[in-house]
Amino acid sequence: MSDILHKSTEPQTPEELYRLYRTLTEQLREQLGQIENDKHEFEVQMTERVGNLESRNLELREQLRQTEADKRYIETQKIRYERDVRKLKSESEQLRSPPLIIGTITDIVDSTRVIVRSSAGPRFMVRSSPSVNADDLKPGVRCTLNQQSLAIVELLPNSFDAQVYGMELVDSPIETYADIGGLQDQINEIREAVELPLRRPELFKRIGIEPPKGVLLHGPPGTGKTLLAKAVAHETNAHFMRVVGSELVQKYIGEGARLVRELFDLAKKKAPTIIFIDEIDAVGASRSEANTSGDREVQRTLMQLLAGMDGFENRGDVKIIGATNRIDILDKALLRPGRFDRIIEIPLPNIDGRLSILKVHSRTLAIADDVNLTEIAQLTEGRNGADLYAICMEAGMFAIRKESQSITQENFRAAVTKVIFDFNRGSLDVEGEMFA
Ligand SMILES: Nc1ncnc2c1ncn2[C@@H]1O[C@H](COP(=O)(O)OP(=O)(O)OP(=O)(O)O)[C@@H](O)[C@H]1O
Ligand SMILES: [Mg+2]
Repeated sequence: MSDILHKSTEPQTPEELYRLYRTLTEQLREQLGQIENDKHEFEVQMTERVGNLESRNLELREQLRQTEADKRYIETQKIRYERDVRKLKSESEQLRSPPLIIGTITDIVDSTRVIVRSSAGPRFMVRSSPSVNADDLKPGVRCTLNQQSLAIVELLPNSFDAQVYGMELVDSPIETYADIGGLQDQINEIREAVELPLRRPELFKRIGIEPPKGVLLHGPPGTGKTLLAKAVAHETNAHFMRVVGSELVQKYIGEGARLVRELFDLAKKKAPTIIFIDEIDAVGASRSEANTSGDREVQRTLMQLLAGMDGFENRGDVKIIGATNRIDILDKALLRPGRFDRIIEIPLPNIDGRLSILKVHSRTLAIADDVNLTEIAQLTEGRNGADLYAICMEAGMFAIRKESQSITQENFRAAVTKVIFDFNRGSLDVEGEMFA
């Protein structure tokens, strides 16, 4: 504007003045418009910028939240890994730590000094670690010893041979008295001797007699001795430990005796218990002038068995059932009262016995109406329970072969022939003499 003012010559006339005024006003208006325009544009730009910045800000905030969450997660992860590392380190340290010697405390000198026998044999006077409770230090307790100082590091629980644990029947047998055919007198006797003292000890206390400690079942093979013992275990809710005599015969000297001792210890701890020693003749054979060291080892085991069964140590609620089919070779010491108080003979079944055994085993079979089990019982004179069981099964096999709906008398007769006459067992009877 000043240019115009300066450039132009001094206005001469009012027209010129007016014109000048008009031009100036126009120019001013134009410039004002321009400025307004610029301002508007600037405002639009700014709002857009601010909008952009705000959304960016939101984005960044979201990112921050995310990152913080990640960080927290990683931190907990880190703590976890650190814990794992610590655990693994201590584990690897434990694995690398030298082995401890196993020993047994034999004597306590005073509260800090103890005499131990290490597993290798020699005896040492050692100190016990402060972490071991002095009251628990007792002769006979097993402990671990430091290799260098032989100090007692910790006390161990008493151990039983793994084999002894293996003998314990975890599941009680499923056989019941109802599964035994005949043998009613024998069942009554064993119930009286084993079940009654365990179930109702007060009866014996009232009268003042010691209940029988053990029962020996003997008789020909396959007559139901093992079955009877299983049924007793099922009916009394006692722990049932089954051991076969031959398992007690061990390779190394003293092992068998130790096994017997541990067997009784474990039985006592778990009382009430029934120990069932099947085929007891494997260890209980009459002691004679033994020749081989093996024989002598068997005798040592037997002696331990005798001592364990003796009334000398109160056995509590531990009952022993023995089973054998060679009672004639058993050591007389086993048979005396106080060990096996009752000797129950399980004979070959008579006709009634055979009939009831057949009934037991055919209970679950599909049998035709014409079947007369009495006839089968008559045909099987001198046969044992196992034979009768085999006859029932064979009869079933015949029926299956013919694809019939049920087992007929004919099937039973064929089974008797097959089991008894075809397979001539008489010719195998030399076996008994061989081992006599
Ligand atoms: N009295 C019986 N009642 C029912 N089944 C019987 C009877 N006797 C034997 N059995 C059958 O015979 C099988 C063998 O019997 P068990 O094992 O009891 O004979 P065992 O007398 O112990 O013979 P071993 O002296 O040879 O050991 C039983 O599983 C059972 O099926
Ligand atoms: Mg048996």
